[in-house]
Amino acid sequence: MSESVVSDMNFADASASADVVPAVQLVGLRKQFGEVKAVDGVDLSIADGEFFALLGPSGSGKTTVLRMIAGFELPTAGAVLLHGQNVSSVPAYDRDVNTVFQDYALFPHMTVLQNIEYGLRVKKVAKAERRRRATEMLETVRLGQLGGRRPSQLSGGQRQRIALARALVNRPRVLLLDEPLGALDLKLREEMQVELKTIQHDVGITFIFVTHDQGEALSMSDRIAVFNDGRIEQVGTPQQIYERPSTPFVANFVGTSNVIAAEMTMHGSGSAGTSGGHYTVRPERITINASAIDPVTDVSVTGSVEDIQYLGAESRVRVRLVDGSSVVAGVRSDGLAAIAVGSTAVLSWRRDAALLSDSVFSEVSSAMNPGPPGGREP
Ligand SMILES: Nc1ncnc2c1ncn2[C@@H]1O[C@H](COP(=O)(O)OP(=O)(O)O)[C@@H](O)[C@H]1O
Ligand SMILES: [Mg+2]
Repeated sequence: MSESVVSDMNFADASASADVVPAVQLVGLRKQFGEVKAVDGVDLSIADGEFFALLGPSGSGKTTVLRMIAGFELPTAGAVLLHGQNVSSVPAYDRDVNTVFQDYALFPHMTVLQNIEYGLRVKKVAKAERRRRATEMLETVRLGQLGGRRPSQLSGGQRQRIALARALVNRPRVLLLDEPLGALDLKLREEMQVELKTIQHDVGITFIFVTHDQGEALSMSDRIAVFNDGRIEQVGTPQQIYERPSTPFVANFVGTSNVIAAEMTMHGSGSAGTSGGHYTVRPERITINASAIDPVTDVSVTGSVEDIQYLGAESRVRVRLVDGSSVVAGVRSDGLAAIAVGSTAVLSWRRDAALLSDSVFSEVSSAMNPGPPGGREP
């Protein structure tokens, strides 16, 4: 939680001074490949020093946006500005940007140190200076002793850090990372998430990080842009994206949410502050068999426990309502003893836990419960 507080502060700092030039600005950016609109009108400002995630499902246009920022791809329309300068006609090698690719693309025949020095050699930096900066960068990614090895003698996580060092040694003002942790197993990925965030903090460079993993985006970023079908659905801090999704797509893609018909609820419909036809609620906002339910502040439904998924400290309980819909509730596993599959359960949540406003209900309910249409309006 303390992380989200820090993120909010960063964001506040960045936006407090409106005259500060953004590190990266995308203006009406489009990219068409034949019939495919890969990027369909993207406007975005990323502040200097931000850890910014482009989050979205596969094929939503994230990589194409990154490649246009890097200069590997030319926009069909719109512009890319780096620190206020329109770089649309600047070739990739002249942009103050480096990219870390998912497959790392290390040179197998070179040592780790030679790999890291490579960009400096191309730029004709003198040998002693090259060696000094590469060695320093090796320390920054905490691989000081491994300079003499070849990439094949390293673990996946170590190779990832070499790729990072190789990009950072050029001291770009912006670092682009395209699913850089995708090839790592879960435990290593979680370690590297923390590490990447620390390194970014140490070097103070703007990171633009592409991922399809919502957990990764939420845990690492100062801000997130959620992509869908070549467009941005929402931009915000992890907290804003998770707690106040502005579209049904975001509510669905980021975290689990339940859609519950108001007519299933006991103290439900009609009172001020509640939604028209449905409630949308996150699993962790739902209590099972609460000792007291306040009909003014709380909403409740009754159903039959269908399934319990044990997940360590927390578990997920799925409850079937009489209208056939199911609701997932998150509970602490030490409370599971009181809940049995097949038993009746009362689920309750606070009215103000509802996630989406009325205007998007019909859309979200058809997206999440693609059953036969209801036609419940009198
Ligand atoms: N070079 C290309 N030629 C044709 N279509 C492409 C090309 N690159 C990407 N696309 C298409 O553009 C869309 C967005 O792709 P991409 O930016 O790679 O998405 P993401 O990185 O979010 O998975 C996809 O439909 C993809 O098939
Ligand atoms: Mg991609």
